[in-house]
Amino acid sequence: MKIDAITIFPDYFAPMRLSLLGKAQGQGILEINVHDLRAFTTDNHHTVDDTPYGGGAGMVMLPEVWGLAIDSIIEDGATLVVLTPAGKRFTQEMAQELTNSKQLIFACGRYEGIDDRVRQYYSRDEFKERNINVLEVSIGDYVLGGGEVASMVMIEAITRLLPGVLGNPESLSEESHNSEGYLEYPNFTKPQTWREISVPEVLLSGNHGEIAKWRATQAKLRAEKNL
Ligand code: ADE
Repeated sequence: MKIDAITIFPDYFAPMRLSLLGKAQGQGILEINVHDLRAFTTDNHHTVDDTPYGGGAGMVMLPEVWGLAIDSIIEDGATLVVLTPAGKRFTQEMAQELTNSKQLIFACGRYEGIDDRVRQYYSRDEFKERNINVLEVSIGDYVLGGGEVASMVMIEAITRLLPGVLGNPESLSEESHNSEGYLEYPNFTKPQTWREISVPEVLLSGNHGEIAKWRATQAKLRAEKNL
């Protein structure tokens, strides 16, 4: 899978070289390229934003520079993800769907966001014919300073679903066997007793049926508590 992120802060993405993501890039399973939006400006001041038409607080990112940046990387079959708190909520299901994309482009807006004509332009029929889709996405009901952290959340959730990325692929099949798609029961490892707290007896029993039953009950209790 090919991932491109466009941002005015490329350094934000340094952690993408670490851990499983770094390894997956080394193995050629994944290609992540980060592009500096300012490299696509054409004025001496490298301007990326201006005041909003209609007035109001804050600045809006210029369509021209975003158009040039996206044009330089977009390929047939791409999904252009525009990060915004007003977008569709990111879920595990959306993460799974996005694994089918040939290229994911993350447009990381700052300030009051990107001029809406960028979304409109890449939603045109000529792009649909090239199997290019635009998706406005929010990772949750809170406002971040920009789309960088949001896109890294998405990248981590999506790429761990790609074959070969996870160290232990059984973790994935266990997740998908759970009705909600998540591991919700509490886990324990050594030592058997820590600070006078002992591991639940059933987990030491070796009785896989009883263990599965206990875990299902615990997952349900936990889910109810979090409602
Ligand atoms: N940009 C600012 N806040 C955001 C959010 N919650 N999700 C995605 N992008 C954002």
